[in-house]
Amino acid sequence: MSLFRRKPIDAPRPHGAGELARTLSWPHLVALGIGAIVGTGILTLIGVGADRAGPAVLVSFAIAGAICACAALCYAEMASAIPAAGSAYTYSYAVLGEVIAWVVGWSLILEYSLVVSTVAVGWSGYAVGALKWFGIVLPTQITAGPALGGVVNVPAVLIIGLVAALLMLGTRESARVNFALVVLKLITLALFVAVALPAFKGANLHPFAPYGFGSQTAAGGVKYGVMGAAAIIFFAFYGFDAISTAAEETKRPERDLAIGIIGSMVACTAIYLVVAAAAVGALPFTRFSDSTEPLALILRELGQGGIATIVGIAAAVALPTVLLAFLYGQSRIFLVMARDGFLPAGLARVSARGTPARITALTAVLVAIVAGLVPLDVIASLANAGTLCAFVAVAVCVLVSRRRDPGLHRPFRTPAAWIVAPLAILGCLYLFTSLQAVTQIAFIAWNALGLLVYFIYARGRASAALQGRSRF
Ligand code: ALA
Repeated sequence: MSLFRRKPIDAPRPHGAGELARTLSWPHLVALGIGAIVGTGILTLIGVGADRAGPAVLVSFAIAGAICACAALCYAEMASAIPAAGSAYTYSYAVLGEVIAWVVGWSLILEYSLVVSTVAVGWSGYAVGALKWFGIVLPTQITAGPALGGVVNVPAVLIIGLVAALLMLGTRESARVNFALVVLKLITLALFVAVALPAFKGANLHPFAPYGFGSQTAAGGVKYGVMGAAAIIFFAFYGFDAISTAAEETKRPERDLAIGIIGSMVACTAIYLVVAAAAVGALPFTRFSDSTEPLALILRELGQGGIATIVGIAAAVALPTVLLAFLYGQSRIFLVMARDGFLPAGLARVSARGTPARITALTAVLVAIVAGLVPLDVIASLANAGTLCAFVAVAVCVLVSRRRDPGLHRPFRTPAAWIVAPLAILGCLYLFTSLQAVTQIAFIAWNALGLLVYFIYARGRASAALQGRSRF
């Protein structure tokens, strides 16, 4: 019984009760991607990035974007070759073997679950702020977790419940709501750029890189410099990978997954560079770098209080698309892990509406507990660590499968794969070294716990499932 046994790529997918409804085509996928990508990263973390790198946060955006573009090309190849719902976990199981798949699946929990928790808490901040404009002030006890002087972050819990209910209603319905909110989100950013870009002053870009280009550790373990900022700004770019979890609900997955992944990634990189340039050019970075709503603050400082209010409210309305995409992705990854025997088989049941309702509800409860009780900063970095692990695994999958299985049908092929995939791997590893030490240690501890669970519980069950003894 090898730790590295692989799941056959053409293993039959479940029929009848276990089958997800195929309702999506490429415009839904591009919208799902943009919905997942544009969120707390550009709306809030741009301030943290500017704090760590100065105006050179523009370079941090470009570097994080380039690394993610390489990873996106690798995802597009694997998603078109293996169009099944589990994303990096599924590709790793097919190409690298069981124990690696487990580590990747376990790391994906960090990515998907913690992004949901992080963005729910971020959303709570915007929503509480928006309510204030309407004269409603909520007490801290119900708007923050214990670490920030409250009891539980109720708005964060509520928004997760709402998004989970929508997902259980149906994937097509969720995709429609997502589409409308993505349009609103793009209009919000366009409005920001239209007001901030004309105020661009070259003098605001000097000094351009006050903390240098590498990453240097300051007191408290925070890493400054362009790469230190890139390791945080990375959060803004991922989400395109969530598209690959929609493989089993896509009408033409071989073609549409690649279009969705690359299309949304290219669109978001272009949008980010324009928004970031407008932000650092409009105001000296020190004036907005510690704000919890930097884009709105910049507009206010430019004397556009009314537009700042509109941007703040629109951001609060549109931000849940990130929750939608990641909660959707996490439930699909758990679903596939349950089918593979790694989690109880009853969780893999699909409801009459064609959605995995049980696993969606369970996922929502878990991420709501984290969102209700735990503060943001370390969680967001941990989500980055989990994502970096998944990106490395997918790039390795491309290289290994090209060498070992050159005849595999790949409707999309990564161009210059032997350059692009190693660049994705090295870039992600470098970003990982640029994360704070506490995050790196927490990531290793999380995976040590994961391996314990694997050897005590999951390994034997996965073996039974691979031999066809488990029930769907
Ligand atoms: N890229 C997503 C965001 O910025 C996770 O919220």
